[in-house]
Amino acid sequence: MLSGEVSVGGSKNAVLPCLAAALLTDEEVVLENVPGIRDVESMSEILHTFGCAIERTDNSVTISGTREVYPVDDALTSRLRASILILGPLLGRFGRVEIAHPGGDIIGKRPIDMHFDGLRGLGAHIEQTNSHYVVSAEKGLVGGEIFLEEASVTATENVMMAAVLAQGKTVIRNAASELHVVDLADLLISMGAKIEGAGTNRITIEGVSSLSGVKHRIRPDEIEAATLMIAAAVTGGSVVLKNTDPENMGIILTKLRHAGISFSTEHDRITVTAPHELVATNVHTNVWPAFPTDLVSPFTILMTQAAGMSLIHDWMYEGRFFYTDKLVTMGANIVMADPHRILVYGPSKLSAKNLESPDLRAGMTMVIAALIAEGTTTIEHVEHIERGYEKIDERLRSLGAQIERVE
Ligand code: EPZ
Repeated sequence: MLSGEVSVGGSKNAVLPCLAAALLTDEEVVLENVPGIRDVESMSEILHTFGCAIERTDNSVTISGTREVYPVDDALTSRLRASILILGPLLGRFGRVEIAHPGGDIIGKRPIDMHFDGLRGLGAHIEQTNSHYVVSAEKGLVGGEIFLEEASVTATENVMMAAVLAQGKTVIRNAASELHVVDLADLLISMGAKIEGAGTNRITIEGVSSLSGVKHRIRPDEIEAATLMIAAAVTGGSVVLKNTDPENMGIILTKLRHAGISFSTEHDRITVTAPHELVATNVHTNVWPAFPTDLVSPFTILMTQAAGMSLIHDWMYEGRFFYTDKLVTMGANIVMADPHRILVYGPSKLSAKNLESPDLRAGMTMVIAALIAEGTTTIEHVEHIERGYEKIDERLRSLGAQIERVE
C-alpha cells in the first residue's frame, strides 16, 4: 500500500519541444522544473551538436549559443521521436535542415508527413535521400494558412516553431490543443513571438525578425500525476502529489473519479485517500481535451482491479495494447477485441512474472501491476520507463514500495 508525499515531475512532452525551441535564438534559454529523464538527455545531446552550451543543474537546463546548423547525428535522432521537433526551429532560423526518420516508442506507424505538409505550407521544400530528409526554404519561410489533416501534437509544435520567424501571418487550423502545446506557445511568446489561440484548434502566428532568450518553468506532467494516482489507488493507498496542475487536468480527473479513485485537489496538490471503490469505466481516447492516449496503459491496470467489465478503445495507436497479454499471464482478465480495443473484466488477483517493458507507458503499467502482484516481479528494459519517469524506483520506494533497480 503506497503512502506518503511525492513530487510530480515537469512534463516530458512539454520540455522536449521547449528544448527544441532554444534553437530559435542564440541567446540564453533557461528551462526550470525539467525532469531528469532519458529523453531530456537525448534532446540535450542533439542540441549540443548545434554548438549549444548546455548546463544542467538539479531541475533546470540552461541552453545558449546556437550558431550554426550541422547535419544531425542519426544515432541521436533515431533514439527519440521528439527529435523531429528540431525541424521547425532549424528551418525557421537557418533555412535548411537534414534529418533521418525519428525513432521513439514502437507503438504504431506514426507517420511524419503531417509535419512536412505543414512546413510546405510555409514554403519549405522537402527532398528525400535514401535515409534522410533535406528540408529547405532558400528564400526564407512565408506565413500561410495551414490545415493539418490530423490534429498532430508535434506537427502543430513544429509548424508553430517554424512560423514564429516566417514573414507574415500563419494560421494553423485543426491544431492540437494539448497542455504541452500551450506550454510551448507560452515559452515562444516570452521569447518575443506573436502567437494567439494556443490551446484551441486554431492558432495564429505573426512572424517576427528574431527571438530573445528567456527563463521558463515547464508545466507539471499530467500523465505522470495520473499514473501515480492510479498506483496509489490500486494499492489501496493514500498519497499526496505535489507540483501538479489539477485545474487543467480536465477529463483525466473526471475519469479517475468515475473509476472510483477518491481524491481531493488544492492549488498544486492532489491528495489521494483510501478507501477506493474501483468500478469498471469505459474509455475512448481522442485529441485533447478528450482522454489522452498516453494514459490508456495505466488506466488498463486500474480497470483490472475494478468491479465489472470495461471497454478501453485507443483508435490512435495500433500497437498500444500489444503488451496486455503479459498482464493476462499475471492473472488479469483482458480480451483484445481488435488492436485498438480491449475488454477488461475485474477485479482480478495478479501474480508475479518476469516481464519486458516494450514501451514507456506499458513499462510503467507493468511496474504498477508488479506493485499489486503476489510475489516478486522482474521487469527488463527499464530504460524505456526511464525515458519518461524520473527515478521512479526511488520515488515509489519513498512511498513504501518494495522496488529496486538492478543493473
Ligand atoms: C505526441 O506524439 C506525444 N509525443 C506522444 O507521447 C503522444 O502519444 C501523442 O502526441 C498523442 O497525444 C510528444 O509529444 C513528444 P500525434 P506525436 O501526431 O505528435 C494519430 C508518450 O508516451 N492521429 O499527435 O507523434 C497520428 O497519426 C508519447 O509520451 C490521428 O490519426 O503524435 C499518430 O499516429 C508517445 N488523427 C497518433 O495518432 C488525429 O487527429 C499520435 O498523434 C491525431 C492523431
